[in-house]
Amino acid sequence: MELGEPIYVGKAKSIYKTDKEDELISLFRNDMTAFNGVKKDSFAGKGAYNAAVSAFFFDYLEKNGVKTHFIKMLDDHTMLVKKLDMIPLEVIARNVAAGSIVKKLPFKEGQILNPPVIVTDYKDDERGDPSVNDDLIVALGLVTRDELAEIKEITHKINKLLYDFFDELGLIFVDFKIEFGKCGGEIILGDEISMDSMRLWDKVTKESFDKDVYRFDKGDVMTAYAKVVEKIMNWQKENVK
Ligand code: C5P
Repeated sequence: MELGEPIYVGKAKSIYKTDKEDELISLFRNDMTAFNGVKKDSFAGKGAYNAAVSAFFFDYLEKNGVKTHFIKMLDDHTMLVKKLDMIPLEVIARNVAAGSIVKKLPFKEGQILNPPVIVTDYKDDERGDPSVNDDLIVALGLVTRDELAEIKEITHKINKLLYDFFDELGLIFVDFKIEFGKCGGEIILGDEISMDSMRLWDKVTKESFDKDVYRFDKGDVMTAYAKVVEKIMNWQKENVK
């Protein structure tokens, strides 16, 4: 596939124009980074794993009434998506305390957060993605208060769907980050939903099956990602006829 020059290069994906004004190509690269790009590597097949998982979840969410930018896969690591006007917010939902929340606040790692917590970071690498509250989001002009309420409602819905899904696979959906954009005035889920942007723990052993394996050298990250892909593909064989 001839893609030309990317119009945007992120830490793990590159975005390309298509012949159509309202469609883009999202290419999932094999690059893996952590700690805002300080730790960097490349793993063969990683892009395809994340693309497959993202495509699966976009499709799963669409079937459950959540609008996403996903159109179709073009090959195993290249996705055709609707062009969105991206909102520079990282929307994070947490079911269990882990990661930065344990460092910043007096939560114990593994503490259950009931009801789940949604937090928002302003997407800006140079500023280290600072936390922003609702007033700051509105003051920055990122979205209106109503749009923010809708973003949170959609995020809660996605969180519930994915928590229940992973529960069936024997995994705890600890937390995840998603990004939204606008298209024709509608709020639509964009970016990706993959092991790079979530925490997943084995229900029994609490072993990690996500980017923490790479961040904290907990083992072989590709083996961990492959396990998640295998579980999802097995679920699909059983449930999608
Ligand atoms: O680092 P922190 O604990 O705040 O991350 C919460 C969740 O959001 C984790 O699943 C992490 O992988 C994800 N995240 C992300 N991209 C970021 C920040 C967090 O995917 N820039």
